[in-house]
Amino acid sequence: MIRREIGRTGRQVNAIGLGCMGMSVAYGEPMDKTEAVKLLHAALERGVDHFDTAELYGFGANEELLGEAFHDRRDQAFIATKFGPVGNLATRTVTGVDGSEANMRRAIEQSLRLLKTDHVDLYYLHRKDPALPIEETVGAMAKLVAEGKIGAIGLSEVNAETLRRAQAVHPIAAVQWEYSIFTRDIEREVLPHCWETGVSVVAYSPLGRGMLTGAFSREVRPQGQDYRAVVSPRFQGDAYGANIALVDEIERLAKARGATPSQIALAWVLATKPNVVVIPGTTKLANLEGNLKAAELQLTPAETASLDGLADKVQGTRYDERGMTLVDA
Ligand code: ATR
Repeated sequence: MIRREIGRTGRQVNAIGLGCMGMSVAYGEPMDKTEAVKLLHAALERGVDHFDTAELYGFGANEELLGEAFHDRRDQAFIATKFGPVGNLATRTVTGVDGSEANMRRAIEQSLRLLKTDHVDLYYLHRKDPALPIEETVGAMAKLVAEGKIGAIGLSEVNAETLRRAQAVHPIAAVQWEYSIFTRDIEREVLPHCWETGVSVVAYSPLGRGMLTGAFSREVRPQGQDYRAVVSPRFQGDAYGANIALVDEIERLAKARGATPSQIALAWVLATKPNVVVIPGTTKLANLEGNLKAAELQLTPAETASLDGLADKVQGTRYDERGMTLVDA
């Protein structure tokens, strides 16, 4: 197990946490509630203590699972949640981002109620509100720290300039970005800045939304209402085949090391910088147990180098056009 501090909070977590979104939304049918709670308990028993959720993930449904799982063992879990995106609950669509203090106060009270706790350990702005200066939102979040409702402030998918401006208002403990062998945009500016200023990078979709696990092929691809089939350009059209072909290199290396492609993908992210933690998502205990073993896998410089060039060859953006306007903001 590798333990890493979140920001300069003094709180250490397992470098391999759990991204909980997929238990409720995005990748097919939501998990059965009892099964989900069992999986969360099993994760905790195996040393996973960093659990990542958001208001957006099922508009409360995902937070409710965590509340059910951890209310009677709250001190063992480091719980991170997020606010910002707002939408229509009936149609489950996101209509915009609201980073105002009023929306934040509504959201945190709802999160605390669903999570069955009096505080969250890390509270993120999920996406920057294009209509509000970041100083205003972070100023409001700082009040929640002072009130003891949140332990630390995080920002998701912000650029280095936004991060600098936020840090002038209040310390930022963590920045969450998509980061994987296939998605390395964070390395341009945000990762070095986080490293220099003691901010943790929480890497989401470190398995490329499942693409890097070897579970998909030209023949076996996400189907039906699966988010990837519907709106994820990397999983669509000609891009899909081209991207799946790039996974061959990861599978080759996995075979040579007696590891799984998922373990290679997670070990690659963990080796980038010591301030990086990963939150792979899974609905299956066997996958969770396999992913945890990535902590024991050290890639050689030659192995890392063989994977370093893949991101430049990936086709298709990581979100659709609308989603891309809200990232790196
Ligand atoms: P996200 O952050 O969006 O959850 P991710 O962590 O990059 O994305 O990938 C999550 C996907 O990888 C899920 O579809 C998950 O499927 P399961 O629920 O079936 O596990 C898949 N996944 C995670 N770990 C895996 C593993 N060890 N082997 C195969 N698939 C895995």
